[in-house]
Amino acid sequence: MTVAKKPVKNSEAVSEEVMTRRRLLTWLSSFGLFGSAIITVLSNLIFIKPRATYGQPQRFAIGKPDEFAPGTRIAIDTERICIVREGNRFAALSTTCTHLGCIVGVSETGFACPCHGSRFDQDGNVTGGPAPKPLAWYQVSLAPNGELEVDKNAEINAGTYFEV
Ligand code: FES
Repeated sequence: MTVAKKPVKNSEAVSEEVMTRRRLLTWLSSFGLFGSAIITVLSNLIFIKPRATYGQPQRFAIGKPDEFAPGTRIAIDTERICIVREGNRFAALSTTCTHLGCIVGVSETGFACPCHGSRFDQDGNVTGGPAPKPLAWYQVSLAPNGELEVDKNAEINAGTYFEV
């Protein structure tokens, strides 16, 4: 009875097979390193890039001039502004109290803060309470579509009206 012998590989074939495995392992580990490097770079870019939430835009339309009757002072609480119309002149005053940021309400004499009692005159000047500064005035302009726009990034001197 003859026993089939397992073919014996010569040392050159074994060496070549080892080299092939070695190359495969080297390639796989290189690929793994390269892949993890790419993932690291991408994840860093994701975290480095600011994910700012800008909230509401600071420049926004408030409507056509005719929508505001002369002599009106209309608070728009969602934008924290009060639109003032005197004749054909418009102004936008901040309704954010300069004390601790509560929303001031329109009063007979100007503005009143419900939180700690600060009072402001019709131009936003402090007339009482702990508020350290007057209310801000924002730039008002007319958009090409005929609507008034307020830019809360553009603070202007108190008493500066936009004339239509
Ligand atoms: S927040 Fe207005 S008086 Fe304090």
